[in-house]
This record gives sequence, C-alpha cells and structure tokens, in this order.
Amino acid sequence: SQLKIAVIVGSLRADSFNRRLARAVEKLAPTEFAFSHIQIDDLPLYSQDFDAAYPAVATRLKKDIESADGLLFVTPEYNRSIPGVLKNAIDIASRPWGTNSFAGKPAGVIGTSIGATGSALAQQHLRNVLAYLDVPTLAQPEVFVHFKDELIADDGTIRSEGTAKFLQGFVDHYVAWVRRFAH
Ligand code: FNR
Repeated sequence: SQLKIAVIVGSLRADSFNRRLARAVEKLAPTEFAFSHIQIDDLPLYSQDFDAAYPAVATRLKKDIESADGLLFVTPEYNRSIPGVLKNAIDIASRPWGTNSFAGKPAGVIGTSIGATGSALAQQHLRNVLAYLDVPTLAQPEVFVHFKDELIADDGTIRSEGTAKFLQGFVDHYVAWVRRFAH
C-alpha cells in the first residue's frame, strides 16, 4: 500500500542544496513511498494568539502533517542550529496545546551544508525538538552531507557514486523505519 511522506525542507532558497538532497533521496525510495513537499514559506510568524483562532494556512500545515505516514526533515544549518523558518513551522504544527500534529509520526532527519560539518549541529538541535514532540526519529545512519558544487543536480540526480551508495543506505533504513509504524 502507498505510504505518504511529508518532506519538510528547512530552506526557502530557490536553489536550496537541501531541496536537491531531498529530491535525491526520494528517487532512491521504492515506488509505494509517495513524497510531497510541505509548504512553509507562506506561514505567518507564530503567535500564541493564534491558538484562539488558528490561521487557515496554519491549519493546512497541520493537516499536511497529520495525513502523512512519515516525515522527512531536510535541514540546513544556520548559525549552528536549524533555520528560523523551520522552527516556526514546527512551532505552528505543534499547537494549539494538546493538538501536536507530529505525535507518533516516524521521521528521518538529514541535511547538507557547505560547511565541513554537513549540518550536523542543526540536526542535533532538531532531534532534541522532535524528541519533545513525541516523534520517533531514525537514529542511524546519520546523513551529514558536505555539499560540493554539482554533487547533486537540481532534479536530484546524484553525481557521485559514493554519495549514491551512502544515501541508498539511509533510504533503506528509513523505509524500514516508516514501515514499522504503518498500520
Ligand atoms: C549559513 N551557513 C552555515 N553552514 C554551516 O555549515 N554551519 C552554519 O552554522 C551556517 N550558518 C549559516 C547562517 C546563515 C544565516 C546562512 C544564510 C548560512 C551556510 C549554509 O550551509 C549554506 O548557505 C547552505 O547552502 C544553506 O542550505 P540551502 O539553502 O542551500 O539548502
């Protein structure tokens, strides 16, 4: 049966390397995995005032998360943490209190940066947030990709055999992880 994966890319940049990484991973997954990219660029900055009357775009985000069988976070590293746009989207979907849309959804966390640490510290912060939100997150293998020019093309074509092999290893574990939670 089809499994729906909500892909949350933590970059709004038109030529985002993390979006390329997401597309590369999607190509390596079996056909019953249907990936859709969650829109976060039109969300307002979260205010607790929303909780009384949630904005329509915020409710849309919550539904997008809730209808998914699994989550895939693909995050850049901004100043050794996750970008504000990603944290904002997470805060919105975690509220109003008692309606955390993420609870129990199996997730993977990957990312790339042009720095040598490949977004590792951002991913570590994200894992902390996801643990609080009751998201079972695949622990291994970790994916810290040190992005180099043309490593992955815009359409997700991987131009390095080593990277393709490495990412396939992640996808195989991720697919098994999501299936464990499927009902
Ligand atoms: C960065 N970048 C960055 N890289 C890194 O490895 N560690 C870091 O702490 C930071 N910090 C940082 C802060 C801010 C505000 C920006 C704009 C950038 C560089 C970052 O990895 C690079 O811009 C990536 O290309 C961002 O990912 P996308 O947008 O290509 O997916």
